[in-house]
Amino acid sequence: MTLKYVNEILTFDNIDIQELGHTIETPYYLYSENIINRNVDEYINELKNIDSLICYSVKANSNLSILSLFAKKGLGFDIVSGGELQRVIKAGGDMSKIVFSGVGKTDEEIEFALKNNIYCFNVESQGELDRIETIATSLNVKANISLRVNPEIDAKTHPYITTGLSENKFGISQTDILNTFKMISNSKSLNICGIDYHIGSQIVDLEPFTDSAKRVLSIINELKREHISLSHVDLGGGLGISYNDELPVKRGDYVRSVVEVFKEANLKIIFEPGRSIIGDAGILVTKVIEKKNNKYGKNFIIVDAGMNDLIRPPLYNAFHKISSVVKNIAPTDSFDVVGPVCETADFFGKDRRLSANIGDLIVIEDTGAYGFVLSSNYNSRPRVAEYLVSKNNVACIRGREIFSDIIGDEEDYLE
Ligand SMILES: Cc1ncc(COP(=O)(O)O)c(C=O)c1O
Repeated sequence: MTLKYVNEILTFDNIDIQELGHTIETPYYLYSENIINRNVDEYINELKNIDSLICYSVKANSNLSILSLFAKKGLGFDIVSGGELQRVIKAGGDMSKIVFSGVGKTDEEIEFALKNNIYCFNVESQGELDRIETIATSLNVKANISLRVNPEIDAKTHPYITTGLSENKFGISQTDILNTFKMISNSKSLNICGIDYHIGSQIVDLEPFTDSAKRVLSIINELKREHISLSHVDLGGGLGISYNDELPVKRGDYVRSVVEVFKEANLKIIFEPGRSIIGDAGILVTKVIEKKNNKYGKNFIIVDAGMNDLIRPPLYNAFHKISSVVKNIAPTDSFDVVGPVCETADFFGKDRRLSANIGDLIVIEDTGAYGFVLSSNYNSRPRVAEYLVSKNNVACIRGREIFSDIIGDEEDYLE
């Protein structure tokens, strides 16, 4: 796999991380183009004879160099903001392959997207639909519309990343969806092109995917009976990866199973994968800056990365494997691996068997998705750098922030 010990030193996509420590300052994210390609190609190969479009979900990792890799491979993009659209434009993405998701698109974002001729809006409410219609009319264009239905399926994932339940803010309920489609079928400025849904993230079982697909298929059939025809069905993202010992359904099996459900609908199928493409293609490299123990027998390894750099453990109680770069011969003690941020929630792992000394490098694994993108300047800490391993070369794809990046224009407002 991507990470392996060679002569007791951890390598990532054949790059010696210890050696890299001589030139790159920690903490930093490191991604592998090989792994990204492997993951994307599994989707592409499975879909090559199917009328389909893969729209990489930009929110998972929006670095321009990463987006540019996907653009070159012909992928489309799933965006949720004007900022993400600007990123895709800069990365050379094809505007005719962009779907715009999200519950709260502003008028400015809608106008910007219409002016850039994106493929379609994944609409989440009647109010949003009305606003898109008004803006499209004023621009004298027709907006392609897909309606997001809430399939009310329990994705059996963390409550913060489940999106297809009736209590979630996402989508239009199944009872209203037919009428909403009917209402827009006469609009001069709106063009119905599809139906979409997304039930959550880090889903490892096949069942929620096939159950929700069957529900949406029955809505598509109902629409057909009402003579409302669609061009596509967009089933969102959500496929999980193995962070610990989960055995997620394989990309190929997942794709084949949902394609099979929708076969009779004869529509283009859109996928919006994020984590399953980029999650295991990244690591966070950090250094031990301190060690301590308390009188209750708790041991701590304090590293130079913090929850502002990777917030998944405190936010979702997410598990990430943690490895020392120099192989532990026989770690005897358990440590909480924590950062320097002044929050008890600032941890990467609890009770991990590790042996590492001050100055040693440590890797937090599977941090390619929802890692850097969720980072912040909390505690006035600069965002870390990002690097990409490409053809056995390590290149910087975003430099570490400096203090002036953190304070922005605050000084201009000093009295
Ligand atoms: C609408 C939509 N599509 C796609 C994704 C990507 O999901 P994942 O990274 O789990 O594949 C998300 C993430 O939450 C989403 O909300």
